[in-house]
Amino acid sequence: MELPEKAATEKKTMGIDPYERNWMRLSILLLVVFAATITIGGLAMGFEVPGAEQEVDPRTVLDSPPWSEPGVREVAPGVFEAYVVAQAWAFVPREITLPVGAEVTINLTSPDLQHGFRVDETNLNMMVIPGQVSTLSYTFDELGEFPYICHEYCGRGHEAMFGVVNVVSAQEYEALTATDDAATSEEAAG
Ligand code: CUA
Repeated sequence: MELPEKAATEKKTMGIDPYERNWMRLSILLLVVFAATITIGGLAMGFEVPGAEQEVDPRTVLDSPPWSEPGVREVAPGVFEAYVVAQAWAFVPREITLPVGAEVTINLTSPDLQHGFRVDETNLNMMVIPGQVSTLSYTFDELGEFPYICHEYCGRGHEAMFGVVNVVSAQEYEALTATDDAATSEEAAG
């Protein structure tokens, strides 16, 4: 009696071991979950991967603005634009100071090698490729220091490629920029 019963069971399950069948189900379920995550993240939550926003000539990119003067500028109240050059083996600028609540768009390029850019405690994380501009935006809602590093191995000075985003209070930021302005006008006067 045992044999025919066994045959019947095998027919029902197409001869797949239950253990294997469960793994197959789990794999298919995972694919569905991944597809749903990407769809919801991309369409409903606005997640973006850093794209090649702009093509530049890596040999001449640093000769003309904005890349000839890397740094941060306020383009509207509370809205900033940063131009950061990743070059073997340093970031220019090495320090970015912003008032708390600042919404900043970071543009990055490299004149030489492939570099990386990752800011601690944020989702700012991108690759920098010569000839392309990588761009990501972020709003710094908390005071503090947010170090950034190059996380693509780029040669013997790789570990020296780091910097920091300083997020300060609005008053402190005003005081800092006021000093800068004063210094600039003094220079202009002198
Ligand atoms: Cu630049 Cu590692």
